[in-house]
Amino acid sequence: MKLILLGAPGAGKGTQAAFIKAALKVPVISTGNLLREAIAQGNALGIQAKQYVDKGQLVPDDLMIDLVQERLQSNDCAQGAVLDGFPRTVAQAQALEDFCHVDAALSIEVSDETIVRRMAGRRTCPQCHATYHVEDNPPKVPGICDKCGEKLGVRHDDDPQVVLQRLKVYHQQTEPVKQYYADLGKLRSVEGVGPVEEIRRRIFKALELPL
Ligand code: AP5
Repeated sequence: MKLILLGAPGAGKGTQAAFIKAALKVPVISTGNLLREAIAQGNALGIQAKQYVDKGQLVPDDLMIDLVQERLQSNDCAQGAVLDGFPRTVAQAQALEDFCHVDAALSIEVSDETIVRRMAGRRTCPQCHATYHVEDNPPKVPGICDKCGEKLGVRHDDDPQVVLQRLKVYHQQTEPVKQYYADLGKLRSVEGVGPVEEIRRRIFKALELPL
């Protein structure tokens, strides 16, 4: 199954992608994580991407399309994949159609107000990319990743001003992608506010996965 996760920054795509990955046994391709890895390595993609990511702007479509097309050719994607953070523009969605059959696009709906509060408390693992929230989804030991024991950090683009810019970009450039998949009859939406486990159940129901 090739599945797309849509939703505003902080809607919970990364959090829920981990559950879907475990259920479907397919990799999660998070373009945000791929870009952050490239930035940390300081390679050509990272140098180009950093100027956009730090300001909360989208990285140009051609760079992102090449990146995802190459990643989807890996053997581990033969049985499917969960795309988290791609496509983020209608141009990316149209390009994806040329090299990948998408089964469904799932949108996690969360208001801007809730997003701003969530992002202020987000902590992420730089090693395995697990995501936590200091109050709503805390790690067992404060500041330490449950999964790999690495020290948790705060993403640069979770700065409140950058979050507002990311929300603006989401409404202008990414929300139209929902209509694109609705027109193809592939869009499913769930309300993304409530306990993490409850959202997981809503998503699994919407995707007709065993609860
Ligand atoms: P990316 O890393 O994709 O960021 P994003 O879409 O903005 O999404 P986030 O990772 O911030 O949030 P999320 O929805 O995964 O939420 P999470 O599960 O962490 O992209 C970063 C940047 O890269 C972009 O700004 C852009 O510059 C660039 N980029 C990436 N892809 C691109 C593309 N295709 N084209 C162009 N540029 C691209 O949850 C958030 C917080 O809420 C966490 O603390 C979590 O613990 C908590 N939480 C989750 N669920 C709940 C719940 N139910 N209740 C309470 N708290 C919850």
